[in-house]
Amino acid sequence: MCAMRLDRFIESQLSYSARKVRDLFVRRSILLNGVAVAEGRGRISEFCRVEVEGKVLQARTPLYLMLHKPLACVSATRDEKNQTVLDLIDHSEKENLHLAGRLDFNTTGLLLLTNDGKWSRKLTQPQQKIPKTYLVQTKDEITAEYIRVFAEGIYFGFEDLTTLPAELIIISPRSAQLTIYEGRYHQIKRMFGFFNNEVVGLHRLSMGNIHLDNQLAAGAYRYLTQAEIASV
Ligand code: URA
Repeated sequence: MCAMRLDRFIESQLSYSARKVRDLFVRRSILLNGVAVAEGRGRISEFCRVEVEGKVLQARTPLYLMLHKPLACVSATRDEKNQTVLDLIDHSEKENLHLAGRLDFNTTGLLLLTNDGKWSRKLTQPQQKIPKTYLVQTKDEITAEYIRVFAEGIYFGFEDLTTLPAELIIISPRSAQLTIYEGRYHQIKRMFGFFNNEVVGLHRLSMGNIHLDNQLAAGAYRYLTQAEIASV
C-alpha cells in the first residue's frame, strides 16, 4: 500500500462510500499515526498507522535486517526441501520480509531482508549500480589477465549484454576480492567461467555502504542501524 490517498485507502479497505468516509473525517473518527485528521487527501505510505473508529486498518513497522547467510541455505522465503533464510529469523512479522538481492545456495555472507519495497528497490535495481563486494575462491590460479577482462566487461550471450566494469583485487593465487555493480544470474561464477575457472567459495562482504558485521556468526542476524538504513 504505497503512497495512496488516505481517504481512498479507507474506502477500499472497508468498502465504504466516499461520503461515508468524509463523514468519519468530520467526526474525527480517523486516526493517522495516532492523531485525528480532518480530511484524507494526503498520501500515506505502507508504514503509516491507520485507525478508523477504533479499528486498526494498517500498522506495519518497517524492518531491516542483515543476515550472515550460511552455506546450504536457500535465498527464498519458502522451499520444499531445504532450509531457507527465513527459517533463521525469529520475528512475528517475518512473513512480510523479502530479500534485497539473493545469494546462491552455496554462497555465504551478507544478505539483507526488509519489508520496505521502496528501500530494497534502491539496492537492487540495475540502474542504481550499487557496488557489491565478494571474496572469491577458485579451483585454478587467478592471473592478472582476469583484472583486465573483468574491467572491460564480459559478454553474456543469454542476456545479450556485457557486464559492467568490475574491480578485481588478487589476494593469493586462488583467492580474490571482486566488486560488481549489477547482479546477473550466477554472475560471478559465469565471470570466472569465462576462464574455465571454477568458483569453489563465494562470500559477500558488502552491498553499497552496508558491510557484513564480523560479530555475526554464520546463520545469525541483526537489525540494521539507522545510519545503515539511511545509507541506501
Ligand atoms: N554471483 C554468483 O555467481 N553467485 C552469487 O551468489 C552471487 C553472485
